[in-house]
Amino acid sequence: ASDARRLAAGAETLEALGQAVAQFEGCPLTGMGARQAVFGRGNPQGAVLVIGEAPGAEEDERGEPFVGQAGLMLDRMLKEAGLEGQAYLTNTVFWRPPGNRPPTAAEQASCAPFLERALALMKPKAVLLLGGAAAKAVLGTDESIMRLRGHWKEWRPAEGGGVTAPALPSFHPAFLLRTPMAKKAAWADMLALATRLGADG
Ligand code: URA
Repeated sequence: ASDARRLAAGAETLEALGQAVAQFEGCPLTGMGARQAVFGRGNPQGAVLVIGEAPGAEEDERGEPFVGQAGLMLDRMLKEAGLEGQAYLTNTVFWRPPGNRPPTAAEQASCAPFLERALALMKPKAVLLLGGAAAKAVLGTDESIMRLRGHWKEWRPAEGGGVTAPALPSFHPAFLLRTPMAKKAAWADMLALATRLGADG
């Protein structure tokens, strides 16, 4: 973890942070068949940092987060909410877990220094946490996403250089693809996010 902190601290931009991640070998997932590191895409100067679970097959192939079906859905929702071009997208871990299983707490913890550095460098007005894995990793809670979604929390990393941000847990777009009934709540969350960003200028 100290290696991650040192590498992360040396990066002064999100782009450099992505390069630092690619050099990092301390995440157990690096030895489990992932093709490459997948860090972030989007606007480093945007107002919102979006955190998903983990890269999937398409992301692993292309080296960018949220470029598969879930990503299409996410992009569409951001656009509809007027947030196109306002987001930077990343995940709790930067390598595809074998068979797309959820990342373990240890895998997430090994990557956390990079996520916290991303927060410190970007200083977003708000953070959107997609799914239970992201909400748990970032907020350190055991509450289910069913309870957490739609409720603003404050993300205060222990070593984030003092940068904090309001964070809104919501459903993961892959879940929405399987569970269309949940879309209404996720859309309400997206609008709450847009309203908050608008209200804050
Ligand atoms: N699902 C995620 O959580 N992250 C991605 O990057 C793609 C799909």
